[in-house]
Amino acid sequence: MNVKFDVSRIRKDFPVLTQKVYGKPLVYLDNGATTQKPLSVINCINNFYLSRNSSIHRGLHYLSEQATEAYENAREIVKEFINARYSHEVIFTSGTTGSINGIALSFGEKYIHEGDEIVITAMEHHSNIVPWQMLCERKNANLKIIPFSDDGELLLDEFDKLLTPQTKIVAVIHVSNSLGTVNPVEDIIRKSHQRNVPVLIDGAQSVQHLDVDVQKLDCDFFVFSGHKIYGPTGIGILYGKEKWLEDLQPFHGGGEMVAEVTFEKTTYNELPFKFEAGTTNYIAAIALGEALKYVSSIGKEGIAAYESELLEYATKKIKDLGDIKIYGTAKNKISILSFIIGNINPYDAGMIFDKMGVAVRTGTHCAQPVMHRYNIDGTIRASLAMYNTKQEIDILCEAIEKAKSMLA
Ligand code: ALA
Repeated sequence: MNVKFDVSRIRKDFPVLTQKVYGKPLVYLDNGATTQKPLSVINCINNFYLSRNSSIHRGLHYLSEQATEAYENAREIVKEFINARYSHEVIFTSGTTGSINGIALSFGEKYIHEGDEIVITAMEHHSNIVPWQMLCERKNANLKIIPFSDDGELLLDEFDKLLTPQTKIVAVIHVSNSLGTVNPVEDIIRKSHQRNVPVLIDGAQSVQHLDVDVQKLDCDFFVFSGHKIYGPTGIGILYGKEKWLEDLQPFHGGGEMVAEVTFEKTTYNELPFKFEAGTTNYIAAIALGEALKYVSSIGKEGIAAYESELLEYATKKIKDLGDIKIYGTAKNKISILSFIIGNINPYDAGMIFDKMGVAVRTGTHCAQPVMHRYNIDGTIRASLAMYNTKQEIDILCEAIEKAKSMLA
């Protein structure tokens, strides 16, 4: 492990973690849903509203220029973070969901016709299912699903069979939010490109854990949310290769995304503004830049090594408790542990955990088809972040034991 990785120092940057709930120290293990924010992000938002707020790209005055500069600087930070070729390939959206809906609209409008096929996986979050389903309904197209094994690994042989001349786009979750599996997106992209099929990667659960290089991946689109990578809510990224973003029509119309508007015809602004209609959540975008700077200052390598050590520790400890079934045992996975304790309902267990200060997510995790695949109603999900500790895993185990003693 990276010797420089110092979890106690990192925890000092997250004031929310120091609180008690029901008189017990908070053990926050719901990072897959949203991460907590470091002081640098909170201060950035606060300071902007206190002294620098002004609409971007619209004023010649001092404050507007300051805000515009900070916003465009945040775009540069995102570009560097994911190693995009150009900063105009980085579009600010409302989040992963907004980005996927946008591409489903713009790409779908132009390239999906009756009988065409869209390939996704059986472990998608609802946000990478429903927009494509809505598109299929509009266009009379078909959704094809890559299945996965009991361990939660995609069956790539099945994927090969699903790629047909009708396939027009492949959209895949990089890391499963319900199972933790890291999917072999490199293979999926390569195989799809052999057939000239573009690929969208849903990076909502990957970009905060893994090193993401969109040029190396060669994906056509990569999307993620700010709030799952220590940034604010209401902001997300749509990365698209320049050729696609030039080619596609905007998915929102409004101010700023235009070059000229007459009642007869509107022409669109250049990239990236063509896709950023209206006043964007610019302070959140600037704060997302701060969050990415924070993650880079800790170092992706150290974070990944520490989180994988935590996962290993937690997996072993939880298994050793006995009578626990873990869902998602892929060889390549990140620090998400989905499990069921004996025949205890996950919601009931979650309520006991809560009273012990332990925050986990229970239920279907916006991935109902994954639960159908295993024929279960839901799981308990502990999703670990860089500020979690082994002591917190121990408290989680105590909570499991308590749930067993009260509910089994
Ligand atoms: N997609 C988020 C989760 O997995 C909300 O919890």
